Amino acid sequence: MCGIVGYIGKKEALPLLLKGLRRLEYRGYDSAGVALIENGSIGSYKKQGKVGDLEKVLQGQKVSSSIGIGHTRWATHGEPNDVNAHPHVSNNGNLAIIHNGIIENYGSLKEDLISKGFEFSSDTDTEVLINFIEYIQSSDNLTLEDALRVALSQVVGAYAIAIISKDTPNKLVAARKGSPMVLGLGKGEFFLASDATPIIEYTNEVIYLKDEEILVIEDGNYHIKDSQDIPQTPHIHTLELELEAIEKGGHEHFMHKEIFGQPESIADCMRGRLNKEKGELTLGGIRNYAKALENADRIIILACGTSWHAGLVAEYVFEDLCRIPVEVEYASEFRYRNPVIKEGDIVIAISQSGETADTLAAIELAKSRGAIVLGVVNTVGSSISRVSHEGAYLHAGPEIGVASTKAFTAQLTVLYMIALRAARNKGTIAENRFQQLLRELSLIPSKVEKALLSNDKIEEISEMFKNASNFLYLGRGYNFPVALEGALKLKEISYIHAEGYPAAEMKHGPIALIDENMPVVVIATRDSSYDKIVSNIQEVKARKGVVIAVVSEKDALIPKMADFTIEVPATHESLMPLVSVIPLQLLSYHIAVMRGANVDQPRNLAKSVTVE
Ligand code: AGP
Ligand code: GLU
Repeated sequence: MCGIVGYIGKKEALPLLLKGLRRLEYRGYDSAGVALIENGSIGSYKKQGKVGDLEKVLQGQKVSSSIGIGHTRWATHGEPNDVNAHPHVSNNGNLAIIHNGIIENYGSLKEDLISKGFEFSSDTDTEVLINFIEYIQSSDNLTLEDALRVALSQVVGAYAIAIISKDTPNKLVAARKGSPMVLGLGKGEFFLASDATPIIEYTNEVIYLKDEEILVIEDGNYHIKDSQDIPQTPHIHTLELELEAIEKGGHEHFMHKEIFGQPESIADCMRGRLNKEKGELTLGGIRNYAKALENADRIIILACGTSWHAGLVAEYVFEDLCRIPVEVEYASEFRYRNPVIKEGDIVIAISQSGETADTLAAIELAKSRGAIVLGVVNTVGSSISRVSHEGAYLHAGPEIGVASTKAFTAQLTVLYMIALRAARNKGTIAENRFQQLLRELSLIPSKVEKALLSNDKIEEISEMFKNASNFLYLGRGYNFPVALEGALKLKEISYIHAEGYPAAEMKHGPIALIDENMPVVVIATRDSSYDKIVSNIQEVKARKGVVIAVVSEKDALIPKMADFTIEVPATHESLMPLVSVIPLQLLSYHIAVMRGANVDQPRNLAKSVTVE
């Protein structure tokens, strides 16, 4: 979690750092800070709250420097306040650090440092790390990078860190393990950041730092060494990200832009892969392991949150089309048990950010036991995309709103294409059914466009329910994961308690909750369990529950029973989640806006969860 930036060059560093922090604010936003070298000493400015609060602190201050680091925090150790905010300066005032991650052995290091006379003002693990580095540097009279290397060899945990030192005002040092770090190469200037978004407007040449690498930028040059001090030859990537893609483009919120951008993002995701005219599907990213996937005895899907919901839909699709058993696992649970993994098992890891710490660790575990990992990731160059054997990018463009919307539909699209192609190659689908599903898939962008036309109606419904304190979401079959996703969206951004359930499970417990105060969102599109879900709606109505039903166009029956209905275009039931999730995204969006919640940056959350 958290966003980090750094700059060293000839320009004024402060405005660049602040702009970079704004771009990274989606990663964490409980406090922000910068440190710069000003006239031979370290100037550190930090503030609880958003980057805007930090800017207020800096207003009117004369800060001039061409080297600095900045941080927007998502607290793990110590509450969000001014003192715990980063940067942290070491006891002798010589070093300043920003840190993304967790130093797990900070407790014992801290005790040891206290016994040596060090003092601590914050509760963070980060302040321990910088003083540990100071201690090693001053006791052994080492350069900053050597002290850092020695310190990191004794540190347990995850980090992306950047350090400046007042003794070496032309040097910026950084390292990473488990948390992301990108170096942007400008002309006579260098940019550091957690991801490429703050860098793209200055240069498209970047290096993704690898785990346990240490980067030193000094006097206009840089070099990278590994943890054994062996020089590395980095690979320079050329970014293809467009600046417009990371700006709001006239929308009030990123989430709004991203919901309404789905016809395009789904089309982008199919571009060059689905050829309707030829009736072909190609997925260049999964080439070498395509046969292994088709012949797999089972598939394990690893993901968290919304990506896990996409995995649940994929389970139904793969089992139906490819006849391969699928297990969908929360990465955070998988990594801490002793899962049965056989050599050659296929793992599909799903992640928007490609940086989720639990998913990364689960992948490492699976790989260490011989599994083949296919990544379904949005962020190009992210850690998960790099540790996977092969994979398919979503190509949905950057998703900035913390609540995932367009990444979910892109994940469903990519997973569907993978399954459909594997089924055809494997012979578990008849050619005419393959062609029919391929055509249906190609029509999804226009159907999503149509589903978005219900926006005004959904806004009216939202007005009626904005003060509810609970919501129940029900769905069956392919729409069950959609119910979970709808409930998660509402919880995340409006802070209303919501639960998603398989509609048939309602009678085993949640039915006790239903009364006239309980809005129940039922995803009841026409599919093989339509009659069953109609009965479930009756059961809710019999207990005076208020039903908001998502139905297929021209449904004549459910509108007579439900209190409110929202129509979505018909499609094949295996593709329905791509369409039926749209009204639920809009419902949560409008309710959150009406409640005055911060839609793009909901409290306590962060866009990429790079800590456990
Ligand atoms: C989605 O709205 C959430 N913010 C969250 O559940 C998210 O899906 C989860 O943290 C996984 O993130 P990833 O896809 O980047 O791995
Ligand atoms: N562990 C550090 C802290 O709590 C860094 C957290 C982060 O990644 O933002 O301050």
